[in-house]
Order: sequence, then C-alpha cells, then structure tokens
Amino acid sequence: TITVPEGFNWQVLARWGDELWSKSVAFDQATRGTADSQALAFGDNNDGMDLFEANGRKLFVVNNEYTNTNIIWGNREEGKPETDDDVRKGMLAHGVTVMEIAESDGKWSIVKDSPFNRRITPETEMDITGPARGHDLLKTAADEAGETVKGTWNNCGNGRTPWGTYLTCEENFNGYFSAADENHEVSAELKRYGISSKDWGYGWARIDERFDVSKHPNEPNRAGYVVEIDPFDPESRPRKLTALGRFKHENAEVVLAANGQLVVYMGDDERGEFLYRYVSNGKYSLNGNNSRLLEEGKLYVARFADDLTGEWLELSPATTGFASQAEVCVYTRQAASKVGATTMDRPEWVAAKPNKVEAYVALTNNKNRGIKPNEGGDPAPVNGPNPRAENNYGQIVRWAPDNADHTASTFTWSIFALAGNPLENSDAYAGSANINAGNMFNSPDGMRFDENGFLWIQTDGNYSDKDGFAGMGNNQMLVGDTETGAIERFL
Ligand code: FEO
Repeated sequence: TITVPEGFNWQVLARWGDELWSKSVAFDQATRGTADSQALAFGDNNDGMDLFEANGRKLFVVNNEYTNTNIIWGNREEGKPETDDDVRKGMLAHGVTVMEIAESDGKWSIVKDSPFNRRITPETEMDITGPARGHDLLKTAADEAGETVKGTWNNCGNGRTPWGTYLTCEENFNGYFSAADENHEVSAELKRYGISSKDWGYGWARIDERFDVSKHPNEPNRAGYVVEIDPFDPESRPRKLTALGRFKHENAEVVLAANGQLVVYMGDDERGEFLYRYVSNGKYSLNGNNSRLLEEGKLYVARFADDLTGEWLELSPATTGFASQAEVCVYTRQAASKVGATTMDRPEWVAAKPNKVEAYVALTNNKNRGIKPNEGGDPAPVNGPNPRAENNYGQIVRWAPDNADHTASTFTWSIFALAGNPLENSDAYAGSANINAGNMFNSPDGMRFDENGFLWIQTDGNYSDKDGFAGMGNNQMLVGDTETGAIERFL
C-alpha cells in the first residue's frame, strides 16, 4: 500500500492500458493487450508528469518511460515478445500520454473522449529545431533533410515553459537500437551514449529497420533530446529541441532570470556524466512570440571546485574544437568532456527554488565513484560535490548563482543532504547531520519545489530494507525545508 500522513489520502488515477476513448478496447490481463489496443490506451511505466489548467479543463501529461518485459509480455512463456505485434505493443506503450482528468464524488478519473486526449509515441511525427536541424549527422534514409523525426521514447523527467508547454526528456534512448549482425562495431561516438549491437530486449529493429544501427547509423543522433509538446493543441507537432543538447536527459527545470532570459537546468543521468545549463539569447515576453527561446541560446556545463565555488563552461565550437554548434548539440557529452566539466554521481532532477535564486540537483548514486572513469574516460575521483567513494546512497547538491542571477557564469555550492544510514554506519555512509532514523533514504531522484519553497524529494533506489538499507523501507517521497535543513517523510 501507500502510506501518507493523517489528513491525506491517495487513489489510482490511471493504470497501464486504461482507455482514453470510447473506441478503446478494455484492458485484458490475460492477453495484456495488442498493439492496436495499446495505441488507444494509457502507456506504461510513468515517470515525469505535470498538470495544465485552462478554461476549466485539467490536462494531465505523463511520460511513459519504458516497459518491463516480464509484465508487458507476461502472457508469453518467457516474458519476451514472440510476434511483431508484441513488439509493436511494447513500442506503443512508450512515449507521452496527454489526458483530461476530472473529479466526481471525490474520485479522479480520465475524461474519455476529451478532444485533448492524445498519445505521443515512437511513431509520432515531430520537427527537429535548433542548431542541429538539417545537419548531416541527423540525415537518414527516411529523412534526407534532417528536419523531421518519428517519435520520442524513454521519456524520463519533464519540465514546463512559462508559455504553457510541456517538456519531455529523452533518457536511455540507446537501449532500443541493435544491429542484425551482433558483431557489428558501432562508432566511438555512439559508444559514448551506450549504443551497441544489442538492444535491451525491446526488439524494435525487428519491426522498424531504422533501429538497426548497422543500416542507419545516424538514427541514434536523432534521439536524446528534450521535446516540447503543446498539450492544449492536440494537432500540434512536437518539437525536438537540439539547442538543449543531446545526452541522457533527466528533467528540464526552466527558470526566468531577472532580465527575462530563459534558463534551463538539466542533468545527464549516467555515472560520471554532467550537469548542464542552457541560457536563451532572447528574453521572455508575456504575450509575445517565445518560440525561438528554446532554439537560440548558449549551452553550458558545470565545473565544481572543492572550495565551494563553481563555474558554467560554455560549449561552443571555440571552446570544444567541434566544427559547429550543431556538432556540439549532437555530441554534447564529448563536448563537455573536452572543456573539463566535473563528473557527477548521476545527475537526476534539478529543482529551482521559486522564492530564492538557488537550484538543487539530486545525485542519485554512483557505485563507480572513486573506482573508474565514465564512458568517455574522464576520471571520477572523490571530489567536493561527489564526496563519497562507491556512493550507493546519493546526495542533493545546491548552488546559488553569483549576484542572484541565473545567467551568471559563476556560483557557490554546498551539500544540502548527503543520504546515508546513521544506524548502520558511523562514517561518511551515515549521511549528513540532517539524516536520521525517521527520514533516512537512498537514491534521491525526482525533485520539485512547491510554491511555499519546500523541496519535495522522491527516491528511486534500493528497497530491500536490509543491511545498509534497513529502515528505509520502500521508495518514498520526502519534503525538505531548505532553510533549516530539516527533512521529513511524507509518503
Ligand atoms: Fe529515468 Fe534517471 O531516471
């Protein structure tokens, strides 16, 4: 069950396979549905989500990040796809679900047949925007112009813009590519992103050749971006935002700097990868056209110094040696390695405090810290913001931009919480002073501030409740007071 404090309750709003339209087919646990039924139903494995309200309507937008093979194909003996339809069903369970929701008699549910209900899947047509649009690295047999792309998948965290659009962030996009010839050697550029001749069991190349990297080596260059969706315009084409860089995106925390420039903070969730910032060239205008703000801007990566200062290093042809900004936006990890960014303990969500110029990043864990470098060969020694070798609990790091300006190139930082278990450990693994028997947790992941400035923290980690994790129970949601350091369990 789910445990919440007295005075709160919880309910299930939507389940994998729930119908979005009258024409949808009711979910069948025995068959676990078909590709056609999945196309008209709520997707699987929810991750980032947000609520949009206008004209008395509430639209809930949810990322359907991935699928668990033994569940989605639990009807098959080996829990693996047997037919092409099985594969396509799995594919269509990915993406984003937009659904109107409403409350009646204290119960929330999906408004079936709402004109806003929509499934965005790996088959949805979208446009490529930003510096890499039209670049040779994005051209494929299906798209010789490098300007349009089919679909989004492995949608992890999210964000929202001041003009009311939803940002969905492509994370482990690599796990869907394979090669018919298992001995096929992928390029070093693709290896940095984890692409190999084997996929993670999804089998997509079996039904769609574009996922065969030996035949279409540029196809993976078209994934790993932040995608913008307008939930209130169901006919709109989603936009892949190459200006925000290509990596395993967690979320996209959008803030307006005091001067009106748009700032987006983003983590790359892999061991020893980096923390990024995007700053728009233009300024936000309340009723104006803001469509270029996520297309034209500068991309930065963070370098932390052990003296509690840090700086944002610009990623441009001049600083990285790449031939163009388009290449920087496609090979963003390599660009960040070239400027000497700080390798981090898996940057998950970034949350910016609404009533103070300050931001927080969840560094979920990193068993490789102090053990081995990241995939690009950048060393990952114990350092200031990543202070613990073989870090299996994680930490939350915060920074304050200098001059209280989110566009400033320098900042000061500190650790808000070093997760740990003070009952099992007496050293660095006990955690920081604000961790105690009643709030201990591991692997901070989702984070968002509420309007009162309290930080909500979700975990995605070890739920064995044993040994070093004893007393942490299952995953949890906590709330923190970032002024006093106090953290309490909520859920
Ligand atoms: Fe999709 Fe970093 O979790």
